Amino acid sequence: MRTVDLIRRKRDGDELSAEEITFLIDQYSQGAIPDYQMSAFLMATYFGDMNDQEVTTMTRAMVASGSTIDLSSVPGVKVDKHSTGGVGDKTSLIAAPIAAACGVLVPMMSGRALGHTGGTLDKLESIPGFRTNLTAEEFREHLRMYNLAFMGQTAEVAPADGKLYALRDVTGTIESIPLIASSIMSKKLAEGMDALVLDVKVGAGAFLKKQVDARKAAQLMVAIGRRHDKRVQALITDMNQPLGYAVGNALEVMEVSQTLQNAGPTDLTRLSLELAARMIFLGRVTMTLDDAREMAQRKLLDGSGYRKFKEVIKAQGGDANVLDRFDLLPNATGAREILSPRNGYVSAIDAEYVGLASAMIGAGRATKDDTVDPAVGVILEVKVGQKVDAGAVLCRIYHTRDERLEEAAELVEDAFRVSASAPEERELILEVVG
Ligand code: URA
Repeated sequence: MRTVDLIRRKRDGDELSAEEITFLIDQYSQGAIPDYQMSAFLMATYFGDMNDQEVTTMTRAMVASGSTIDLSSVPGVKVDKHSTGGVGDKTSLIAAPIAAACGVLVPMMSGRALGHTGGTLDKLESIPGFRTNLTAEEFREHLRMYNLAFMGQTAEVAPADGKLYALRDVTGTIESIPLIASSIMSKKLAEGMDALVLDVKVGAGAFLKKQVDARKAAQLMVAIGRRHDKRVQALITDMNQPLGYAVGNALEVMEVSQTLQNAGPTDLTRLSLELAARMIFLGRVTMTLDDAREMAQRKLLDGSGYRKFKEVIKAQGGDANVLDRFDLLPNATGAREILSPRNGYVSAIDAEYVGLASAMIGAGRATKDDTVDPAVGVILEVKVGQKVDAGAVLCRIYHTRDERLEEAAELVEDAFRVSASAPEERELILEVVG
C-alpha cells in the first residue's frame, strides 16, 4: 500500500477501506508516514469527506494507536464532557467540578488551543504548578479520591490524536466533520468513560459555521458512542459571540473562579449548569434531568463546585490560591482599549476575530512547537444587545509584547458591530441530539 495512492484517492472523493485507513493511522503514529504526507491526506479529507464507516474506522484506529485507560477498578459511572471548540469557552472548568461535587466521576481528557479556539489544558496550565501530564495510574487514583481528574493525550493514550491535532492546527484542516468527530471520540473512548456530554459549537467563532453541519457532527459522535455502548448526548450551542467576557488562558481561569462563586456572566453560568446537569443525569445520580438541574444549581450556590475545583487544582500540583488572588496568575503587562466608534447597540461581536486576535498576541499557537503566553487575551466590556455611547470601552486587549498588537487591535475592532437598533436575541442552547 502506498500512502500517495491513498491521498490521491481521498482527494478524488473515493471511500477508503478499513484496512487502508488503519494503515494510514498506524504508520503515521509510528513515524513511518511523514507530516507532509499526512497533511496532504488531512486536506484531501477536508475536501473529499468521509462516510460514517470511514470515520468509525478512523476513530478505532486512533484509539488503537495507544493504550486505553482501564477505569473499571474505580466504581461508578464515569462521565466526561467535551466541546468542539469555542472562544471564551471555559465551561469544562465549571461544569466538571460541579458535576464532581454532585458525585459524578469525571475523567476529563482535554485538548490544547486549536486554531482561534482555546484549549482546556492551556487554561489549566496557566495555574502555576498545575500538572496535566498525569500517568494512567495517577488519573485513576485522582478519580477515585476526588471524583475529577484532568489530563491531556499522552504518548500512551490516543497518541494519534495528539499528533494529528497539532498537525491540523497548522495546516488549515481543523474544520472538517470527520476529523473533528474522530479526534474527539478517540480521546474519549481511550480514557475509559461510560458516558459523554458534548457541546457542539456553531456560529462565527466555531469550526462549524452552519447548524446543519453542527447537527451532522453531533449525530456522528452520538452514533460512534452508541456503537461502543457509551451514552452520548450533544448540545448544539451558539458560538457567534465569545462565551462570557474573558478570552485567553489565565484571564479565563479568573472568570471560572468568579462563575464558580456565582458571580459569573449569565451566558457562561447558564450553559455550564446545563452541561453539568446533563453529566449528573447521565451519571445516574438523579432520576430526572430536572432533578439534575436543581442539584447542579444547588452545588454552585453553596460553593461545592468552587471548593471541588480548588481541591483538584491542589491535587494536580497547582496553586489553588490563584482562585482568590488573581495576582498569583500570570498577568499581562499592558492593556489596549478598543472604543465604540458611535452611539448604538452592540449587534455582533465576531468570536472568530476575537479568538484570532487573542491567538495572534500569544494565547494560541502559530506552529505546533510554539508555546502559549498564559497571560494574554481579551476582556470584553460589553455583550451583544448592550447599548453603548461613542467612545465607550468595548473591550481591552491584554498583552505582554507589542509584536502583532496593532494587527490584533484591528481585528478586534472589526469584530464589533455597533448598530442603530437593538439586535434580535439569540438562543444560547439551540438543539439537543441523542
Ligand atoms: N476538540 C478536539 O478534541 N478535536 C477537534 O478536532 C476539535 C475540538
